[in-house]
Amino acid sequence: MRERRITQPDIRNVIAARVSRRGFLLGSGTTLGAIAAQGFVGSLFAGQAVAQTAQSSLMFSELKRVYDDTHHVADGYNANVVVGWGDPMKAGQEVVDVATLDAAAQAERFGYNCDYIAYMPLPKGSQSSDNGLLCVNNEYVSFNVMFPDLPDDGEGGAKMTAEQVALCNMAIGHSIVEVKRTDGVWAVVQDSTYNRRFTLETPFAISGPLAGHDWMKTSYDPEGKMVRGTNYNCGGGVTPWGTVLTCEEGASDTFGGDIATTPFPDVLERYGYDGSDYYGRARFDSRFDVSVEPNEPNRFDWVVEIDPYDPAAMPIKRTALGRMAHEASTVMQNKDGRVVVYMGDDDYFEYVYRFVTEAAYDPANPASAKDILDAGTLSVAVFNEDGRLTWLPLTQGTGPLTAENGFATQADVLLKTRIAADLLGATPMDRPEDIETNPVTGRVYAVMTKNKKREAGKLNPVNTRPENFWGHIVEMIPPGGAGAEADHTADTYTWDLLMMAGNPADAATGATFHPDTTENGWFVTPDNITFDPKGRIFVATDGANDFDIADGVYGMDTEGPARGLPKLLFATPEGAEATGPFFTPDGTTLFVSVQHPAENADTVATVGTRWPDFRGDNLPRPAVVAITRIDGGEVAS
Ligand code: FEO
Ligand code: CA
Ligand code: CA
Repeated sequence: MRERRITQPDIRNVIAARVSRRGFLLGSGTTLGAIAAQGFVGSLFAGQAVAQTAQSSLMFSELKRVYDDTHHVADGYNANVVVGWGDPMKAGQEVVDVATLDAAAQAERFGYNCDYIAYMPLPKGSQSSDNGLLCVNNEYVSFNVMFPDLPDDGEGGAKMTAEQVALCNMAIGHSIVEVKRTDGVWAVVQDSTYNRRFTLETPFAISGPLAGHDWMKTSYDPEGKMVRGTNYNCGGGVTPWGTVLTCEEGASDTFGGDIATTPFPDVLERYGYDGSDYYGRARFDSRFDVSVEPNEPNRFDWVVEIDPYDPAAMPIKRTALGRMAHEASTVMQNKDGRVVVYMGDDDYFEYVYRFVTEAAYDPANPASAKDILDAGTLSVAVFNEDGRLTWLPLTQGTGPLTAENGFATQADVLLKTRIAADLLGATPMDRPEDIETNPVTGRVYAVMTKNKKREAGKLNPVNTRPENFWGHIVEMIPPGGAGAEADHTADTYTWDLLMMAGNPADAATGATFHPDTTENGWFVTPDNITFDPKGRIFVATDGANDFDIADGVYGMDTEGPARGLPKLLFATPEGAEATGPFFTPDGTTLFVSVQHPAENADTVATVGTRWPDFRGDNLPRPAVVAITRIDGGEVAS
């Protein structure tokens, strides 16, 4: 999620002041006691000059801490750019200077700010790790480093020209490109018929309980069954039947107009809509003005299903999965055949969700997957003090979700998912980002990136640090056994904390990494995660620049003596976050998105990096890199 920087004081000063205050608070022992009670992996790091990392199962020499204008990877590895903003995706297209792109050209080229990546093997159903489709979200645009004289001061959107806004509308959404590995190097297959763009103008079908609902009808779509475009595509997931889920992470600052004029100001307010029109869209297209088209916001903030193997397939917004600032949608097939989707709502004090399909998926009968995500039970998580995690169903007619409370139908529950979850007493979290399942243990990991707004009086069993600038990772443990035996449909799990992030050398952070963690290995602000085939977690961070270190990717054991001991594998260039980590099935390639390089600059004139091209005065370009071992072996093995 783009952090609004407009009205914030310098975050680094805020952190410095709060940390010194926390040092005093921790002196009372109260918070440390709470930390110890959760059974953490190790004691606080004591700042050893020479750390012992021999216990880690991750076999690579850790990258030394580095933060400059380019990317870096551990010795013995390559990190090559595969595809980036403006790159060709059609036969005959030339590589051009992205400063010359117009909307029509952008609509046929790779989008901006790459985020979630799914690698989908070719042919479909194979385990091919040398040829596949990269399905990549293009979350948003950093216009301050795309166009001259458009500072990120809250006024940029109002100053953009119609042409600039149109280009930006084509630069977001999702990009599918076929990629092939030849002699160890990944490259785009430029003339592949699978290559495809989804933008703010692409038609999307609406399915599930909200299809045809009155609140979904607009002048463009009087039937409420078709949306133009997708927006803020952040995390995602892959289904067992070979489709990709892309998550709309809240379109609140995309709209202009006065929300008080709509029939549902309380709902839009609960979803953060403020009419700010941050990207200038409402000035040129009245569908982004809620005073003109009040239902248009209701048509975003969903999970979208894309079939990358069928270039003619229309993408579908699956409303049964709820309306929120969707960060991720990790899909598991449970042992009984039902399909489970874990989802986080990435905003301050929002919740962790789970969807369980009503029907079972039968791989022998591909038709059983059709519309299976349209019917099922959406639940929200309560983390209890006794270590139990309870999933509470968001089902109309149960508990307080009644007509008297504004929930006459399941469609009402889904349109107002957050409000329904409030009523059920869900546990407010420190900004839930990615959620992924360890394929070996069956344990589920939910990443809380940070929450500077958490006050000391608002702590709960699983969010234990006030002014949490550093983030933490929650472990959710389904009953029934390990791996495929785990029951991801159970009403009750147990939970634990994998670790709390922060610099362990600064006890005031309350960080709880393994005691052997080195000065290079600790991290802050975890965001996206993935697992390699051996069940080791790889954590990508977003927000480390506030601590004067690079965002990057860290590998870490979740089991055994080195549980909670991270090692730095990859560092991004200045201003960028690392996101969307995804392995090929054989574990020899880890794809990672380098999102918003140089975004920390006020304008193009002051960018700190022109990554990845470094050609004269070229613009910085977000891009996907492929991390591989130089000898071609499995990453970290
Ligand atoms: Fe798009 Fe929650 O990061
Ligand atoms: Ca983020
Ligand atoms: Ca994210």
